Amino acid sequence: MAAQTPEAIYQQTCSVCHDGQIASAPRKGDTAAWAPRLAKGKDVLLENVLKGYSVMPPKGMCFSCTKDDLKGVIDWMAH
Ligand code: HEC
Repeated sequence: MAAQTPEAIYQQTCSVCHDGQIASAPRKGDTAAWAPRLAKGKDVLLENVLKGYSVMPPKGMCFSCTKDDLKGVIDWMAH
């Protein structure tokens, strides 16, 4: 998966929930929704995605993603 771009990972996995299907899942580019999340710090966001958070499964369901892959996707989708 390392060769995959953050956008490709997002489209394949994260967008299943983060593109409006689940209201509580912040959408790409929704700065108002991301602001309070980013305020927690990106390390916390990464930990929460790795472990799973609320209804989001561990690794956001991208089981082949590395930690760095997920870090890249979070950076990509939170802006
Ligand atoms: C099964 C649905 C689902 C999938 C798939 C999913 N998410 Fe989420 N995600 C959610 C929901 C729902 C929330 C909001 C949870 C809450 O705040 O109650 C969330 C929250 C987040 C947050 C904020 C966490 C925080 O601490 O506030 C990040 C970052 C995130 N997702 C990243 C990702 C990434 C990256 C992927 C793909 C690799 C992904 N998600 C895939 C449902 C999903």
